[in-house]
Amino acid sequence: MSELRVAAIQTSPVFGETVRNLEAALALVPPGLDLAVLPELCTTGYQFRDREELRELAEPADGPTAGRLAAKAAATGTTLVAGFAERDGERLYNSSLLVRPDGTTALYRKVHLFWDEKLVFDPGDLGFPVFAACGTTVGMMVCFDWIFPEAARTLARRGAKLLAHPSNLVLPHCPDAMVTRCLENRCFAVTANRVGREERIAGRRLDFIGRSQVCGPRGAPLARLDGVATGAAAAAID
Ligand code: ACM
Repeated sequence: MSELRVAAIQTSPVFGETVRNLEAALALVPPGLDLAVLPELCTTGYQFRDREELRELAEPADGPTAGRLAAKAAATGTTLVAGFAERDGERLYNSSLLVRPDGTTALYRKVHLFWDEKLVFDPGDLGFPVFAACGTTVGMMVCFDWIFPEAARTLARRGAKLLAHPSNLVLPHCPDAMVTRCLENRCFAVTANRVGREERIAGRRLDFIGRSQVCGPRGAPLARLDGVATGAAAAAID
């Protein structure tokens, strides 16, 4: 792998403001990158009150979010990975879309759903595929997949050199755990998280921890943000 410039984009979405949230996230992507990763559910926000609300905000994998990501990727030469709520017929997935500058795409559907996600989303049915992108081999995970070492291991065994990891982290352990995932699998990871709070269901408050990061196989983060501000954690990796 030759040197790649990558970044995790840390956002603070407003629930339901899909277009504005995506534009705000894309505005944080620094120029000159090979790859930028945006958070999980970065267009919609995280906490859906019920499946009907999710269905209304979800969109197909070739919908308006994909179109906007493709336009940005084409204009900048940056491969983009973004988490979004996917509707495929009657099925609803917590998905991650990779969009290359030539407009081609790759899809991952979150396998390990977290907490109340199980009430509204269907579990991913695509396994853990890997894809050629931006001069390397990329595997996608979404947030809570981090706690199962087999997810990163499976991707690495299939040839992933870089884990693109859209997230909405609430537990504090993931940033350090991803350092270990990279150490044990000799790969890089770009974990993009959000900041802020949602309590759209009384008593189910979620505080998002931020700390978006890039880490590699040498046992330390290469770039890491704080838990408060939006921005980009950027690093050159090889
Ligand atoms: C999570 O999987 N969003 C915690």
